[in-house]
Amino acid sequence: MPESLSCIGLFLINHDKNQYIMDTLDLHGIRKDYSKQTLSEKECDGSPLVQFERWLDEAMKAQVNEPTAMNVATVDAEGRPNARMVLLKEINPHGFVFFSNYHSRKGRALDIHPFAALTFFWPELERQVRVEGIVKKLPAAESDVYFDSRPYTSRIGAWASHQSEVLGSKSELVARAAMVGAKYPLHVPRPPHWGGYVIEPERVEFWQGRPVGCMTASNIAG
Ligand SMILES: Cc1cc2nc3c(=O)[nH]c(=O)nc-3n(C[C@H](O)[C@H](O)[C@H](O)COP(=O)(O)O)c2cc1C
Repeated sequence: MPESLSCIGLFLINHDKNQYIMDTLDLHGIRKDYSKQTLSEKECDGSPLVQFERWLDEAMKAQVNEPTAMNVATVDAEGRPNARMVLLKEINPHGFVFFSNYHSRKGRALDIHPFAALTFFWPELERQVRVEGIVKKLPAAESDVYFDSRPYTSRIGAWASHQSEVLGSKSELVARAAMVGAKYPLHVPRPPHWGGYVIEPERVEFWQGRPVGCMTASNIAG
């Protein structure tokens, strides 16, 4: 299987079986004292996007694991929240960009409620950033540029993988990938159902852990 085709396991919950886990794991004592740094309004840039870039740069320099990984929460047609990790791929003057399948669960949720909440957590720096805002699709030409920069197997995967759908078997996915590969041996065009989203922030909160607990919120007018 091409490495870009990820594996996903889906579980439905049986609450009786969960009793075993609840009896054996003691989580009450797990806590951490934050002590690394403090954050004052004076140190924050007036632009939340500039401040974010500064913190992301520091996270990358500190070799934080997956510094661009962010949790994206959306709300589906029934008003239920749903969250998953994605990778931040650009910060442009409008906001935070990630790429996905427009037919996925998140894509369908965003068609109905074009709003999202993002969370970054950089434990090594004791920092969290929360963003809330309106979500728009990136212009097709900009999605093309990023799609063309992806490895061949990832581009094939964008056609072969029906994100968020239950897969009959792994071989089904491998066969689909082989068919797409045969169709596009060299140039793989961007599937129309795959592209970027930009979250235009309306509220950004920078959180720096410190002994007494500190929170600095920075709001952008809508
Ligand atoms: C670290 C990490 C990064 C991920 N990056 C992306 C991404 O950039 N785009 C994406 O569509 N899915 C990404 N995924 C997979 C999503 O978390 C999710 O499983 C998938 O998008 C389907 O979500 P949905 O059914 O809610 O639409 C990533 C997962 C992890 C753990």
